Amino acid sequence: MKFFVDTADTAAIRELADLGMVDGVTTNPSLILKSGRDIVEVTKEICDMVSGPVSAEVVATEAKQMIAEGLKLATIAPNIAIKVPLTWDGLTACKALTSEGQMVNVTLCFSAAQAILAAKAGASFISPFIGRLDDIHIDGMELIEDIRTIYDNYDYETEILAASIRSVNHVVEAGRIGADIVTAPPAVIKAMAGHPLTDKGLDQFLKDWAKTGQSIG
Ligand code: E4P
Repeated sequence: MKFFVDTADTAAIRELADLGMVDGVTTNPSLILKSGRDIVEVTKEICDMVSGPVSAEVVATEAKQMIAEGLKLATIAPNIAIKVPLTWDGLTACKALTSEGQMVNVTLCFSAAQAILAAKAGASFISPFIGRLDDIHIDGMELIEDIRTIYDNYDYETEILAASIRSVNHVVEAGRIGADIVTAPPAVIKAMAGHPLTDKGLDQFLKDWAKTGQSIG
């Protein structure tokens, strides 16, 4: 299972990358806003830190402009994956950009039907948004399951990038179903290390150790 980090916070990416936990990064306009930084400058810094794909999103809504923006973003670094929304124009841009050898991440996917079209348009990644579906009481994980089944039925090469991850359970479930990649905020990745029985066990070991009166080293 590959881990992408869903943030434009370079300090957080660095911390996780140093532990070998970053296979790629995803950003979007809201995350760029949150970083308070210039898109080209911050994306370049991220691309220098991470060798895997770094998604940078276009903001045009018409295919021709999306392609132009995508090609501009692609000049930032060789590991840029151009992110386009799952609209008809986005699919048109996806086809054109992948035909030119660019990596494309088709984002804002909320149905299996949309995911089929993205695969047909040659997407490198499809990003189904689990959390946002859960927010409107639709099981986001069922979507991951459906896409996995359909892609496997036809050996589509598009990678399933489970997005809008809100919890540790989302990561584990996406892995169980067989999503190729999970993109999660740094806080969720760090929360994966926590378990109350680990805390309780460690507390007991430290108390017992103190009673031995010993020290190591
Ligand atoms: C994916 O690439 C998106 O950046 C992201 O996962 C959106 O998540 P959100 O619904 O928490 O904003």
